[in-house]
Amino acid sequence: QDDPLVVFTPSGRRGRVPSGTSVLDAARRLGVDLDSVCGGRGICSKCQISLGTGSFPKHGITVTEEALSAKNAVEQRYDEKRGLPPARRLGCQARILDDAVIDVPPESQIHRQVVRKDAELRAIEMDTATRLCLVDVAEPDLQAPSGDLERLNSALAAQWQIGPARCPLPVLARLQATLRRGDWQVTVALHRAPDGLEILDIWPGFFEGPLYGLAIDIGSTTIAGHLTDLSTGTVIASSGRMNPQIRFGEDLMSRVSHAMLTPGGAAEMTAALHAGLDRLAAEIATEAGVAPRQIVETVLVGNPVMHHLALGLDPVELGQAPFALASSGALSLAAGDLGIGAINPEARAYLLPLIAGHVGADAAAVALSEAPEEADELTLIVDVGTNAEILLGDRSGVLACSSPTGPAFEGAQISAGQRAAPGAIERVRIDPATKEPRFKVIGCELWSDDPDFAETVGPAGVTGICGSGIIEAVAEMRLAGLVDMSGLIGSAAQTGSERCRPEGRTQSYLLHDGSSAGGPVIAVTQTDIRAIQLAKAALYAGARLLMDRRGVDRVERVVLAGAFGAHISPLHAMVLGMIPDVPLDRVRSAGNAAGTGARIALCSVAARRKIEEVVRRIEKVETATEPRFQEHFVAANALPHASDPFPELAR
Ligand code: FES
Repeated sequence: QDDPLVVFTPSGRRGRVPSGTSVLDAARRLGVDLDSVCGGRGICSKCQISLGTGSFPKHGITVTEEALSAKNAVEQRYDEKRGLPPARRLGCQARILDDAVIDVPPESQIHRQVVRKDAELRAIEMDTATRLCLVDVAEPDLQAPSGDLERLNSALAAQWQIGPARCPLPVLARLQATLRRGDWQVTVALHRAPDGLEILDIWPGFFEGPLYGLAIDIGSTTIAGHLTDLSTGTVIASSGRMNPQIRFGEDLMSRVSHAMLTPGGAAEMTAALHAGLDRLAAEIATEAGVAPRQIVETVLVGNPVMHHLALGLDPVELGQAPFALASSGALSLAAGDLGIGAINPEARAYLLPLIAGHVGADAAAVALSEAPEEADELTLIVDVGTNAEILLGDRSGVLACSSPTGPAFEGAQISAGQRAAPGAIERVRIDPATKEPRFKVIGCELWSDDPDFAETVGPAGVTGICGSGIIEAVAEMRLAGLVDMSGLIGSAAQTGSERCRPEGRTQSYLLHDGSSAGGPVIAVTQTDIRAIQLAKAALYAGARLLMDRRGVDRVERVVLAGAFGAHISPLHAMVLGMIPDVPLDRVRSAGNAAGTGARIALCSVAARRKIEEVVRRIEKVETATEPRFQEHFVAANALPHASDPFPELAR
């Protein structure tokens, strides 16, 4: 009689195992991905499987209910106490007695796929750096003296075939008491560092977890955190706060200047950022009701200046050519070194690699999220912030550059500009016949021409205009013939609109007059349009430079990344000539792609290795020293462009 044949789904792995082998052992033998925290003791239930019965002609077997052993006492106890879902069995207790087809559900797979909201993109494959393992440690023996840590490591080797693991001093200081409290059974959080295993924490007995990780995107204006369950890959809480460095300067260059001109300036900004990161971590843990100790990892992304300041590195070299980075490689260090004390004291931090002196770990995170190196179509990805980071590529290669767009796209340097906050105009439409505007403000669902608008928007009313609002306003002005191709606002006589009013030697266009209610007068001035023209010309010129380098004059797809990218309407971006001409249905908003990339790195060591490799191969293009940049910039000042055709706009 042959040994039973076991087939695992969905992996399709199959083989014969001696009758009586547990499903968990069979899975391990056949290289099937089946999770376990308790190491087969019937405690964790991570190993749940189900038996497929009936005839399986493909495998030439018929499976009966008797293919698995009946529930033993351990499994029965688990079922009574905690309840197993119908038809589920504990893989570590159920034994294979006859030919069997065994399904491993997604939640029982270590490398489970986490489907992203954006179905266009590949799922995230879980491969966390830190996991929990339950171990039974031998008691000390006078006859064979050895340390508790050495016996713990022997147990890890025997029960998990891993190790030895390093033990940081603070954990070692708790080890003896914890072992005794757990009656020689402990759960350890083991972290796979690039240079070996490390014990991040230890709990007496069985500790179920879950463990959490914090993905942090350090922007020059805001820092955003996403607390992620490391067993499921799902974000359980997100939070953002102002980057406290803002008091040292609004934009990156003013921060670099502060570092250059003020003795101790860089250290001052590092301290402020560390305090901000720590507070963000504390807030998000409290908000999610998660014990800080269970947050064992963090991944940080940011532009090169933020990256250097987070690490306590002086960013002065980044303020001048050749923009030398202290180090461009990925880094793995203690989260405490970045001032993040509000999580597990031994928590690890991973920083994605930097692409170039102006193209940071945030752009690497965007590349990890969007995977341009796997695209079949030539894809242009722009992450718009105070600096636009631009990637262009497909399977044959990826190019990157950054372009100094300045803060106009964020509403700064605009006469009535403000950050995207309640009360800010974020959507604008102008009737091409009457030239009358209507708009929407953040925090109110209604358009301004709705009779209930004034009441709904509340006493604070309309406060200003944010980045996406000014872009739409200028584009709509262009579509309504209020602005010519050079960006000049016409007079009332030229446009037929009383809203066009002289302002000094130029004209402005009145969007909203709140003065009767004590509110602001919001107009688009000629200076505002110039600021938008300069910003969009820089963005477009950067993209064109990459297209030149690639030898193409069209791209096939455009991805708008960044929190701001999520709010730009593709039509308006193209009317202004922010992005090259492409069919509108080929423009996609990727939302906060840098944050998503950070979360992917948090969930997967394989993804970390992959992006490190991809970044090594990205070709960097330096806009500051490229002579054609200026040429493209000048031509791109026109709306949409002085010479490049925009046939899609004519449709
Ligand atoms: Fe933990 Fe089966 S491996 S219950």
